[in-house]
Amino acid sequence: MTHKIRKAVFPAAGLGTRFLPATKSMPKEMLTLVDKPLIQYGVEEAVASGIESILIITGRDKASIENHFDISFELEQVLKERGKTEAFKQVRALSEIAQIVYTRQKQALGLGHAIYQAKEFAGDEAFAVMLPDDIMDSETPALKQLIDVYEKYDAPVLATMQIEGETISRFGVIDAEEVEPNVYKIKDVIEKPKYEDAPSDMAVIGRYIFTPELFDALEKTEPGAGGEIQVADGLRTLLKKGRPYYAVKLEGTRHDAGDKLGFLIATVEYALKNENLGAEFRDYLKSLNLSADSAKK
Ligand code: UTP
Repeated sequence: MTHKIRKAVFPAAGLGTRFLPATKSMPKEMLTLVDKPLIQYGVEEAVASGIESILIITGRDKASIENHFDISFELEQVLKERGKTEAFKQVRALSEIAQIVYTRQKQALGLGHAIYQAKEFAGDEAFAVMLPDDIMDSETPALKQLIDVYEKYDAPVLATMQIEGETISRFGVIDAEEVEPNVYKIKDVIEKPKYEDAPSDMAVIGRYIFTPELFDALEKTEPGAGGEIQVADGLRTLLKKGRPYYAVKLEGTRHDAGDKLGFLIATVEYALKNENLGAEFRDYLKSLNLSADSAKK
């Protein structure tokens, strides 16, 4: 019997080396897309997908994440006194968005190791894992798309998207058979294959539904590439045992906001869509007259 997916885990203990120096003393997950930190987009997606309880795995310098989702009496008081009702409501709503707990990953030993810290939190329930720097912009919340497949097939689900060309080598890549449009049964997952060796053009992206069986597999996983405990290795152990795993090709756009260029693109997209800023920002971009500029070069 499938459990309802009520719990989501956000690994946020990475070092964010691709975004230095910004991430030297600030968590990558608090980088701001227009006016919200990355992790808030993820938490909102989780809540819109029916999640009730959230575990954020933090590392050093992560106090700002905890403060962001906590009550700020002083700020609320000032906003009330100044009659800033809208801002007050926003700030208050954030502290009530979901039940959020925190645990620490003492060393950044990889995503698999980070997820392992959720063992107690998950208990005997299937749970979601969401990578906060993968920003998903979709009609149906991305996690909800995975939950729908989980409920239908009663098995863990990974999110995938098609990646053209050599960029595929930066991802975990699935070898899989399509069982219905956009849903795949996974045979294998290869972590960061060479372009020539990639089993498909379907990359694994940062949304997953796992069962607690993954914890046992991770316990037995030796550190792989870069001394890190890789989720893909844990997954392969389970696939080899014949456990069914599915993947869903997500509808929507994914932004890799943990990467400088990906972050800039996401910023432009979200600024253009912003109710208050969009029109003026579009005018500004038009005023740059970029095509004329590049023609000159
Ligand atoms: P990334 O590989 O994108 O994050 O991991 P990173 O290691 O922080 O970044 P770079 O590559 O050095 O720039 C995806 C997610 O997994 C978390 C990260 O915080 C991020 O949200 N993570 C990664 C952990 O929680 N612990 C780890 O040991 C590694």
